[in-house]
Amino acid sequence: MFGTWFRAVAVAVVVGPLRPCLAEDDCLECDMKMLQLDAKVSDRATKKLLSNCGHLTQETCDPHANYPCSNNCPVHTHGHDCYRPVPEVMAEHPGEDGYCYFNQTGFWVAPMPAEPDFLQSAIGGILTLRDLPVPKGAGYPSPYRGLHTGPVLTFHFEGKVITTQADAAHYSYDDLYGYSLGYLQGQGLSIDLVRNSTAWIAASKQKCDEIQQTYNFQNHELVLADWLDYNAVIGAKVSCAAKQPAAADSAVLEKAKFKSVDDCEPVTARDFAKHHYIKCLLGYPNSASDGAYLNVRACLLDGGTRIGHFSDCPFSPDVSF
Ligand SMILES: *[C@@H]1O[C@H](CO)[C@@H](O)[C@H](O)[C@H]1NC(C)=O
Ligand SMILES: *[C@@H]1O[C@H](CO)[C@@H](O)[C@H](O)[C@H]1NC(C)=O
Repeated sequence: MFGTWFRAVAVAVVVGPLRPCLAEDDCLECDMKMLQLDAKVSDRATKKLLSNCGHLTQETCDPHANYPCSNNCPVHTHGHDCYRPVPEVMAEHPGEDGYCYFNQTGFWVAPMPAEPDFLQSAIGGILTLRDLPVPKGAGYPSPYRGLHTGPVLTFHFEGKVITTQADAAHYSYDDLYGYSLGYLQGQGLSIDLVRNSTAWIAASKQKCDEIQQTYNFQNHELVLADWLDYNAVIGAKVSCAAKQPAAADSAVLEKAKFKSVDDCEPVTARDFAKHHYIKCLLGYPNSASDGAYLNVRACLLDGGTRIGHFSDCPFSPDVSF
């Protein structure tokens, strides 16, 4: 499904009536399992980072997660450390990659090569996520049918009104996430930086430092298992910001305070910042890869009121759309 290596990107599809449909062949759970098993990394390039990688203690994801394959802590070799602050855990493992240590705790957590190619990893993420199956009736084209084929969404976010066209279900989350972090094209970071991995990792570190200066997250807020569980909650809160239904797991809806499209809590910039900041703590190449994906796939247009994709944007990656 992917190239020789692929690092699952940092975002999840959480729109529509998502349920771990364990008994069905074409269910999300099964596809997530495939996603996980296909997340190969090239041995040569990753050797340096692949010391002390964690792995699952069983073949399949923990079915108790609030979204398929999004929290495998109970069945992970380093699962005990999921419930401690990430800064404390990583301080005990200097020089190790957190995406290796916590490999596959969530489907997007997989170590990347020691010499990353962020443009390629972004393309891998784009191609994988666009074709994740969407529950029937969710209102998004699935599989992806092309540019400008999905519903137009209007976000009310942090006092601003921004539109996008959701050509795949994950667009709502990823578009607003990229915008919120300032990672979209047109928000100041150039694609030339993405092409230079050293420079891009440095830019990511700077972004991470800015986030922590702004939000001053405390250790108790930075627990890996909470981060994994909150991803689906962010998805529901993104749906709220777009006044879209979010028929997720009931625990997710409760945590997101989502009762209806008119009685729910929209996602905040702080939610997105914290989601990204954990990636910073797990290693700047991981936050850099997240940022590259967000930059390569979308841009801010029309004076900051519309998010576009591919040929809408100054830079469009070499993939069909
Ligand atoms: C990551 O975990 C998966 C699932 O247990 C495992 O198959 C894979 O080998 C692990 N990756 C590394 C680099 O150890
Ligand atoms: C990449 O960025 C680094 C750090 O900014 C710089 O020193 C280096 O010259 C750049 N490499 C290329 C090929 O532009």
